[in-house]
This record gives sequence, C-alpha cells and structure tokens, in this order.
Amino acid sequence: MRVLSGIQPTGRFHWGNYFGAIRQYIDLQEEHDGYYFIANLHALTTIRDAQQLRQLTRDAALDLLALGLNPDKATLFVQSDVPEVSQLTWILMTCTPMGLLERCHAFKEKKAKGITADAGLFTYPVLMSADILAYDSNWVPVGQDQVQHIEVCRDLASSFNHHYGEAFVLPEPRLLSDAAKVPGTDGEKMSKSYDNTIGIFEPENAARKKIMRIQTDSRPMEDPKAPETDHLYQLYQLLASEAEAEDMADLYRRGGFGYGQVKKALADASEQFFAPARQRRQELESRPDTVDDILKDGARRAREKAAEVLARVESACGIRAPS
Ligand code: TYM
Repeated sequence: MRVLSGIQPTGRFHWGNYFGAIRQYIDLQEEHDGYYFIANLHALTTIRDAQQLRQLTRDAALDLLALGLNPDKATLFVQSDVPEVSQLTWILMTCTPMGLLERCHAFKEKKAKGITADAGLFTYPVLMSADILAYDSNWVPVGQDQVQHIEVCRDLASSFNHHYGEAFVLPEPRLLSDAAKVPGTDGEKMSKSYDNTIGIFEPENAARKKIMRIQTDSRPMEDPKAPETDHLYQLYQLLASEAEAEDMADLYRRGGFGYGQVKKALADASEQFFAPARQRRQELESRPDTVDDILKDGARRAREKAAEVLARVESACGIRAPS
C-alpha cells in the first residue's frame, strides 16, 4: 500500500500530532511504501514571517526523524519541493464546487473566530487533495480533524474520474481509535490554534508546568471515577505502559486519589516516553548536512512519482498529448 500524510510546520509538534498521526507514520513505514511531507505551502496561510517558516520547516524535519521516521524505509520531503503538486491543484480546482469548500469545518471554524479568510485558506482542501492524489496514495494516516478533507479529496477524484476516465486512485483515511482526537490541557481537542498543547520537545519543566495546570473537575477525592471519559486519564493512557494504565484505571474506579497525583504520574510518563527521541534529536542537530541530504533525496523520489501522475492526469483532461 502507498501511505501518505502531511503535517504543517505552523509551530512545534504536540502530543496530538504524535499520537494521532506521527505514531502511525512510523508504524506503517515498516510494511508499506510511506510518503511523508512537511506542508509548508499550507503553513503559508498562517505564517507570514519567512525566517520563522524556514526554521519551523527545519525543526519539523528534525522532529520527525528524531521520533523515528526512517529515510531508508519512507520518503520524507518538503511539500514545496514538488511543484507538480501545485500544478495538479489548479486542475483539481476546476472540478471543485464552491459549496463543497464552504462546508469544510476547518474553514468555517476559522471564519467564525473572525480570522480573515484568504483564497489560500478557502482552497486549502484542494491543495491537500493534490498532495494525496499526486502519489497514487491508498491510505492517509491522520487524526479525526482531517477526515472531512479526505472526503473532499475523494469527491474531487471521483468527479475527475467520472469526466475523464480512471486517472486517480481513491484514498482512505487511517485513524487510531484511541488517539483520533487527543485532548488538550482544557479537555478540548489539542490544537495549536486553541493554545492548549503540550509540545513533544518542549523543555521538561515547561511541559511539567502545563501538565500540572490541566483542567480537572471538582468532584471529591473519595468518589470513584470513570477513567475512559476523563481527559487526564486519556492522556496518561497514551504515554504510560499498559500495566501502568491498567493500575491507574483501577485507582480511578476505586476513588480516593487526587488529580495532582495523576498529573505527576503523567509528567513522569511523558519524560520517559520521549527521552529517546530527545536524545536522537540532539544527535541530528549536530549533523545538518545529513538532514539536507535526506530532504533532497526525498524530494527527488517524490517528484518522480508526482511527475508520472501529473502526466497521466494532463493527458486525461486534454492539456497534454494522449499517453
Ligand atoms: P496538522 O498539521 O494540523 O496536523 C498534523 C496531523 O496531526 C493530527 N492531529 C491530531 N490528531 C489527534 N488529536 C489531535 N488533537 C490532533 N491534532 C492534530 C492531524 O489530524 C494531522 O493528521 N491539513 C493537514 C496537513 C496536510 C495533510 C495533507 C494531511 C496537508 N496535506 C495531505 C494528510 C494528507 C493539517 O493541517 O494537519
């Protein structure tokens, strides 16, 4: 299977990114043909500082490699290094009903918050569709918030195929049931735009402070509590070992504990969980040329595939000689 996913360099990665998406990239690279990219063209809709965007793109590459993405097994590249994707975006744009984009929740939410929408933000799902379709992707590992965009992608591909013949492969989203929507420190979806994230590579004491401030309810300590519906427990379950998570669940069901105790256990579990990645990141930082070479090689491989798909699509719709 060809597996593809992208991640925006709009800030440093957080637990939601890791458990919802990156962890899947790493698992799936073992048995499948993985294409993973840093979506800097998408990030242009929010980051207006050139130096910051370059730095965050670089950080994203280091973070992904440190977390276990293996360039010998998967293709890692930067979105803008494959211009074929932008060419494909235009072609798809001509098959995109306005109403379909107007219904996309990411756009609706930003608009509702008063963020002025430009055409880039509005047509964002079309670029995302091109990202997916350019590589004949079968599976797209993502969190719940991206599922609607993959549905848009399927609609656009089906509509093109209907007009011009079977040019595109239809992709499917891949979700992890325990982490499709990782909660943030306020219990809502963890998201850079809600300011409720805990960063993967955040300094340990800063992360600990955020963990200690996770919002909890005010039920008495002695009350038994249901672990499954508690966001603090949901986070703990992601980071602790299975046995530790089971012990904690028992404690919840018995009652007679304080949330402070759970938060401390969560901070310890997180330090332990991400310690090897922190170490690898430090090593990688001292080898900038290696990272450049990985991205260059990834872009070359990705372009080869995207050029093949673009040629097929251009022939199908009549802007290139028939193949
Ligand atoms: P982005 O950069 O917002 O998020 C990257 C990935 O992290 C997942 N994620 C979460 N999963 C579970 N719980 C959370 N709280 C949480 N927060 C974020 C996202 O679902 C995503 O999988 N549009 C995409 C980037 C993109 C893309 C693509 C993805 C561009 N082209 C093509 C797949 C295929 C985005 O903004 O993700």
